[in-house]
Amino acid sequence: MKPIKKAVFPVAGMGTRFLPATKANPKEMLPVVDKPLIQYAAEEAVAAGIDTLIFVTGRNKRSIEDHFDTAYELERELEERNKEKMLRIVREILPPEVKCVFIRQSEALGLGHAVLCAKPVVGDEPFAVILADDLINSNEKPVLSQMVDVYNYQHCSVLGVQEVPMEEVHQYGVVDAQSSSDRVYEVKGMVEKPAQADAPSNLAVVGRYILTPKLFDLLETQERGAGNEIQLTDAIARLLGSQRVLAYNFVGKRFDCGSKLGYLQAQVEYALAHEEVNEEFRDYLMSLDLGLIDRRKAANG
Ligand code: G1P
Repeated sequence: MKPIKKAVFPVAGMGTRFLPATKANPKEMLPVVDKPLIQYAAEEAVAAGIDTLIFVTGRNKRSIEDHFDTAYELERELEERNKEKMLRIVREILPPEVKCVFIRQSEALGLGHAVLCAKPVVGDEPFAVILADDLINSNEKPVLSQMVDVYNYQHCSVLGVQEVPMEEVHQYGVVDAQSSSDRVYEVKGMVEKPAQADAPSNLAVVGRYILTPKLFDLLETQERGAGNEIQLTDAIARLLGSQRVLAYNFVGKRFDCGSKLGYLQAQVEYALAHEEVNEEFRDYLMSLDLGLIDRRKAANG
């Protein structure tokens, strides 16, 4: 089996849950403390040995291209002002050997369609898919590296999963799976956004996939599913007809940065771990008198 060298980042979504912040800016450029979500995702891919980042973009995604491109004027200005640390931050967004490819998804037909748009660049190789709004913090290995380990051992598609409360299964792709060994499950079936009563389990796919190229053939003939969109989940369910698929319950804490609450939780936890602001931010949080804030809110009606 070939090694995983390419990662696909579907970034063409509208980000409606963050309007007006996402009116002119993609949601993947929203920062957590000082780094945009897409950069956390790119760093996770690079740490897993990936050397080609494929961004499937839509309208308003220019800033993602600019973010990963050289910023000559900015660099010159920082150089002139001797801002060495800042200059390093700007220059080291990606290691020089990593290539970025941008593909435009002309119609918003769903996640499965976005992944299919990457076929001409991925070719006949296994690849990763990372959804940048699922930000996953792991004190051990980064999540994609954990999944690449599983792939290198098992040589088949691997889905990153996590247990979620049953009341939330309708927001996810949910697997029907049998425990095989520590944290690894054999997938028997998969459903996109099932009603609670129809969910085969509470193991939800959370934004990390390693897939074999066979999936592209299936996506080409995939009919629309939940939300009238071409769903990645439905094509993976069909892949089960010919190939083994594993689910891997990763080690790490996931923040749903596609929702306001998850995004705010990520800000707090990443700030508490950030070398520049952690102590002062902690003091600030400790100083907050939540009772007083509640009373003020009540008084203001
Ligand atoms: C997408 C996938 C879904 C997956 C989820 C993880 O849904 O379609 O299977 O569980 O991401 O975040 P979305 O959140 O884009 O609706």
